[in-house]
Amino acid sequence: MDIGVFIPIGNNGWLISETAPQYKPSFDLNRAIVEKAERYGFDFALSMIKLRGFGGKTEFWDHNLETFTLMAGLAAVTSRIKLYATAATLVMPPAIVARMASTIDSISHGRFGLNVITGWQKPEYSQMGLWPGDEFFRTRYQYLAEYVQVLRDLWETGRSDLKGEFFQMEDCRLSPRPQADMKIICAGTSEAGLAFTARYADYNFCFGLGLNTPKAFAATTERLRAATAKEGREVPAFPLFMVIADETDEAAMAKWERYKAGADTEALQWMVSQTEADKNAGKDANVRNMARADSAVNLNMGTVVGSYATCARLLDEIAEVPGAGGVMLTFDDFLEGIEAFGQHIQPLMQSRRHVMELA
Ligand SMILES: Cc1cc2nc3c(=O)[nH]c(=O)nc-3n(C[C@H](O)[C@H](O)[C@H](O)COP(=O)(O)O)c2cc1C
Repeated sequence: MDIGVFIPIGNNGWLISETAPQYKPSFDLNRAIVEKAERYGFDFALSMIKLRGFGGKTEFWDHNLETFTLMAGLAAVTSRIKLYATAATLVMPPAIVARMASTIDSISHGRFGLNVITGWQKPEYSQMGLWPGDEFFRTRYQYLAEYVQVLRDLWETGRSDLKGEFFQMEDCRLSPRPQADMKIICAGTSEAGLAFTARYADYNFCFGLGLNTPKAFAATTERLRAATAKEGREVPAFPLFMVIADETDEAAMAKWERYKAGADTEALQWMVSQTEADKNAGKDANVRNMARADSAVNLNMGTVVGSYATCARLLDEIAEVPGAGGVMLTFDDFLEGIEAFGQHIQPLMQSRRHVMELA
């Protein structure tokens, strides 16, 4: 099973809480995290793009670096781990993104790929005067399909002449082309998002679900498998989980309870209002799920809490879900968390024995 890290490009990572570790994003922090992850055999690191935060007492995600420039810097100081940036496709022309990706492919010697997003939070774009209107909630994956066609044409042939509804290319050129086969991630989970993923993406990222229920995301993977079967393709799924570990189950659970007790209610309120804006989204939609009361404090991502042995056992179960290619992890404290993972959790994991044997 592959393991990646969702690096904290925004302040405080993925805990919207006054009692969680408080920190700002920086290149130095993310460099230390990715270097450590690389040392422990992590397969990849991904950074998101977030252009407007949630506010509140913790100023949640009000402080965010930019993903391509961050990954370019990380590409220069790492040698093995794969790196993914996230393309805010609404505001970055595909020919420019194709060229940026080629550049980071060159810096990383073929270790770079892209997470493509349509954007779901209007104020991130309307603040720049670049929101195309609420109709976009409905058409966003049609737009993304054309966008990715342009990227693939440029990467594979060096030219795009696509005459689409959203993009009209005129003998557009790209050189140099990337040396490696450029992989595309999509984390869409709506019907349109999954249909897009099934047809165009190499990997699907989704939310893990629940507390210490590592297989609960299987329902999402089943929907993906139904969509990929129609296309005759296979697209491995990578759920997102937060790991909160300590020497004992009790000590780890005490941390999780402390973070929940300190939830930043003002920031959470903003998130709830944002997740309700897409009137096309059903009540089970991913973005609605993020704001559910049970565990909004970490955006309701799957959460694994316990001793090192408990975490190892639970993470191994992810590998048993049909269609799972691996897992992407976040931590309450990234530096301590990756250290504990590398020293104490990974050595106990069956699904990571191949990494331990290499070490
Ligand atoms: C692991 C992961 C990473 C994501 N990264 C971003 C991101 O960087 N920026 C963003 O606006 N949305 C991001 N999203 C949201 C998805 O792209 C997608 O819009 C969301 O899951 C809702 O699915 P839908 O678009 O099919 O409705 C991410 C989601 C997941 C699970």
